[in-house]
Amino acid sequence: MPPNGSPGEVPPAPVYYSDYLRLDKLLSAQEPMSDKLGKKAHDEMLFIIVHQVHELWFKQILHELDAVVDNFRAETVDERSIGKSVASLRRIIEIQRSLIDTLRILETMTSLDFLDFRDLLSPASGFQSVQFRVVENRLGLASDQRLRFDGAKYYSRFQPKDREALIASEEEESLFDAVERWLERTPFLKYERFDFLLAYHHAVDRMLARDEEIIRSNPMLTPEEKEKELDHLEGTRREFAILFDEEAYEAARKEGKKRFSYRAMLAALLINLYRDEPILHEPFRFLESLIDIDENFTEWRHRHAIMVHRMIGAKIGTGGSSGHHYLHKLVEAHKVFTDLFDLSTYLIPRSELPELPPEIVRELGFAYSLRQEGNGHA
Ligand code: HEM
Repeated sequence: MPPNGSPGEVPPAPVYYSDYLRLDKLLSAQEPMSDKLGKKAHDEMLFIIVHQVHELWFKQILHELDAVVDNFRAETVDERSIGKSVASLRRIIEIQRSLIDTLRILETMTSLDFLDFRDLLSPASGFQSVQFRVVENRLGLASDQRLRFDGAKYYSRFQPKDREALIASEEEESLFDAVERWLERTPFLKYERFDFLLAYHHAVDRMLARDEEIIRSNPMLTPEEKEKELDHLEGTRREFAILFDEEAYEAARKEGKKRFSYRAMLAALLINLYRDEPILHEPFRFLESLIDIDENFTEWRHRHAIMVHRMIGAKIGTGGSSGHHYLHKLVEAHKVFTDLFDLSTYLIPRSELPELPPEIVRELGFAYSLRQEGNGHA
């Protein structure tokens, strides 16, 4: 009988490294087509392994994204959940960096070596990576935002069971949705005597009036140059004006220039401006991590497109696209959190920031959860 077990209980078998990791399955899952067809192509092994490494890491990325969406699904997202979510996002960021590097390993294969087996793979393509598409959907890539190279939905090129999984993943709550709802609930936009938007509006007006004065009184500028600079300043004024007028914001949103709801955008701005307050550190790090993730996928897409160019030149892809031309177009188009990138437009120097009333500063020093329970701001 084992020391702590009940009579008759069979002790678990000692864990064995290769059993635990299912290496029997993992290491027998590389089956080059060139071997099967007796057309030896040395580099196909590398091609398979680099794809499989990507798929394994996509699996881990999804595992982390699921956890983050779950954390943000709660009505009250406390600081611990934000901290854990930031940790998950930082992990994804490191994985993405590793994936970008992994493409370099594949680039040790030359395009002539690739030609030894490329034709054997048609019509399969990375385009059919289910996990890659689910990652995009889980992040919140909107379905009408996707570029189509043949007019059809991306999932038309998948087998029926995968197609169903992809359609289901489009319907699940995405990280974008969860973050938007969380931002909408962020307190402090209006807090007792403090009206964030009003205070910020005054600060922006002061800053722009000063900028205008600097242009007008600059003796180095010719009247034409002054006119031009004042025109630019007017453009900046119009850009800020969108934030001060909900209707104008909604109009910009309809045109696809903004995606976050008005309230979510203001909350994200507040977090960015007052990031130095202790309670906003983690929310700020969280928003920054979302930008990092978008940036890293943008970088991966760019690196992949460059690699494809050098591998197949101007040939079309095995999945039927125009190849690197199509891939280059995707680079910017499939970003999810563009609103967070655009926020920098609306930042003003710390020296111009409206001062927070002392009671808010005190509040912002407390734990989020305590404050929310205490005064009902959720
Ligand atoms: C020799 C290396 C590679 C070549 C020549 C290549 C080529 C292509 C091409 C031409 C496309 C556009 C669709 C098509 O017409 O097929 C594509 C899409 C794609 N490839 Fe690759 N690829 C390579 C390596 C990889 C690797 C290592 C991955 C990692 C999983 C990958 C993942 C993808 C994904 C996810 C797409 C879809 C992009 C999108 O539509 O958003 N590819 N690839």
